[in-house]
Amino acid sequence: MPILPARALLLAPMVELSHRPLRELIHSFGGCDRYYTEMTSASGYLARSPFDQWFMDSEPAPEKTVVQLFDSELEPLAQAAARLFEERKASDTPLGGIDANFGCSAPLIEKAGGGVSWMKDARRAASLIAALKAAAPGVPISAKLRLGYEESEAALIEFCLALEGAGADYLVVHPRLKSEKFRRTGRWGYVRAVAEALHIPVVGNGDVRSPDRFAAAMDEYGAAGAMIGREAVRRPWIFALLRGKEANPSFELAVDIEKIGLRMLSSIKTMLPLPFHSSRARRFFYYYCDNLSFGHHLRYAIQNLRDLDEMERQFRQYFMDVPAERHKTER
Ligand SMILES: Cc1cc2nc3c(=O)[nH]c(=O)nc-3n(C[C@H](O)[C@H](O)[C@H](O)COP(=O)(O)O)c2cc1C
Repeated sequence: MPILPARALLLAPMVELSHRPLRELIHSFGGCDRYYTEMTSASGYLARSPFDQWFMDSEPAPEKTVVQLFDSELEPLAQAAARLFEERKASDTPLGGIDANFGCSAPLIEKAGGGVSWMKDARRAASLIAALKAAAPGVPISAKLRLGYEESEAALIEFCLALEGAGADYLVVHPRLKSEKFRRTGRWGYVRAVAEALHIPVVGNGDVRSPDRFAAAMDEYGAAGAMIGREAVRRPWIFALLRGKEANPSFELAVDIEKIGLRMLSSIKTMLPLPFHSSRARRFFYYYCDNLSFGHHLRYAIQNLRDLDEMERQFRQYFMDVPAERHKTER
């Protein structure tokens, strides 16, 4: 398998969202090229956290699923990569890649030295990439990063060149600074600058929601692919739309919004452990309700529920009240 196919489409790592039920749903619409798992603590995995099997679950496409690891130290990350590599070999299950999280800016993680904090020291980050390469021979190693702490094209390129020099197979750039939230649009000019400076593929991430934005990522900003997060939760069929295989606009109009939501609830119940149920369902519907004209009421109601059967009842009720919303209409 190539490191990445041309104009690659990747599902972003998202805590409580990039799990098997979402992958199964995306897969049912033809899938994407790489599915990132949500970030998983390397130290937690080494300590055999009881939830590992769900964090590391790579079905339904293990060969395309990249496990994202985070930690503040090199050692646990390298050891976790080595253990994952050995476990997959023993069970004869492919490993689509290992990604180092250099982008998370959640205060708890960043202050502890994980996530974007790795961007403070290019040499240390490069040592980590080299250690991951050695720990998992033959497995694609990537890093997902932000712009860092302050705007500096030179510093960003120096950082990315160091990762390339250490053997990174490709990089994913989410062009926002450490402190920037989603309100501000990503600065995609930096994706272009990094793509031009490096020889390895550079994937762009952030706000890709339409065929136009996808085309711009490749053609205007020189990215090797696009990684999509929130829009893949809102519309798990987005990859099919972008791939153009489903260019027929009636494809999206035929999607049954109610059926997909119910399928997600049922997959959460059957594929994830009980302690994950309500948090994962709430998180999914937080974005998925954007498909509905009166979705904010439903979103609010679901955010206040814990019981999945009750969520299902509310969700079904919405379509009894507004049956036309089961399908999107032409705009
Ligand atoms: C709920 C949520 C959880 C996230 N968790 C992670 C994560 O575990 N690892 C990571 O590298 N980025 C994480 N991100 C950032 C996304 O991967 C992505 O960079 C960001 O959402 C921008 O892409 P988008 O505009 O396509 O959503 C998360 C984002 C959201 C909204």
